[in-house]
Amino acid sequence: PKLVGKYIEPETREVNGILMTKIISDNWDNIWNFQAKSDDLLIASYAKSGTTWTQEIVDMIQNDGDVQKCQRANTFDRHPFIEWALPPPLNSGLDLAKKMPSPRTMKTHLPVQLLPPSFWKENSKIIYVARNAKDCLVSYYHFSRMCRLVPDPGTWEEYIEAFKAGKLLWGSWYDHVKGWWNAKDQHPILYLFYEDIKEDPKREIKKILKFLEKEMPEETLNKIIYHTSFDIMKQNPMANYTTLPTPLMDQSISPFMRKGMPGDWKNHFTVAQNEEFDKDYQEKMAGTTLTFRTEI
Ligand code: A3P
Repeated sequence: PKLVGKYIEPETREVNGILMTKIISDNWDNIWNFQAKSDDLLIASYAKSGTTWTQEIVDMIQNDGDVQKCQRANTFDRHPFIEWALPPPLNSGLDLAKKMPSPRTMKTHLPVQLLPPSFWKENSKIIYVARNAKDCLVSYYHFSRMCRLVPDPGTWEEYIEAFKAGKLLWGSWYDHVKGWWNAKDQHPILYLFYEDIKEDPKREIKKILKFLEKEMPEETLNKIIYHTSFDIMKQNPMANYTTLPTPLMDQSISPFMRKGMPGDWKNHFTVAQNEEFDKDYQEKMAGTTLTFRTEI
């Protein structure tokens, strides 16, 4: 293990060509054999795509806009992160999921080909949230600086190259978003975009309601929009990860709720970096019907 500052960088290992932490790789058989249920709901995404935001929206919907109930526990305890594990005695995502009474709502960052097959067999509902590559990269870079549970990002220049090459935990962003996009017509998958939620949260929350076959009064809907706005979630200790100890996430380096703004990549990429990124992007995304907005 490499020492970064005074921290030991977590070891990584590939699972079927996808970079994971060593702990996930060691636990892979259990993850792959996880038993999903037909009434499970899975929130899936590439890292830093608006997962926590989507989780809060879904939890508010499931609890009919009851803020108190949504503050019953941390995001990561309300929704087990199925593949995630830390050294024992800490609970793994699988332990939490197995203990949770149904109907369960869970989280994953797995690329589509690594999703435990029981989810397909049981036809469990899945909400996938995607975010444009450049903002996702920026967010993942800052997260990797402050979170000691994922590898050190290196320099900004190095990080851009690692992102393009897919040499990050959970693999290539390009393959991830395309893989889930291709799966969405064969399975109950609601494919959402971070930029759309930011642009018109009401429209997107209504899509989730329809997908979950739920209805609610306009007043509750407005309450959910308010409670899940960036400024409110940033202040919510049950959503902003500040209950984690500093050695795991040092929010003085970069807060978990950092900017929450489409287009922040413009404050990071140089003109040359942007041009090079776009050129490579076009090659990697050629032939897909999937398109993103890099600003709204
Ligand atoms: P930034 O680093 O760009 O600010 P994830 O939950 O998948 O790890 O994604 C984290 C990103 O979503 C962070 O992006 C975070 O600020 C942003 N985010 C979290 N809650 C949000 C909200 N209510 N509105 C907008 N962005 C939000």
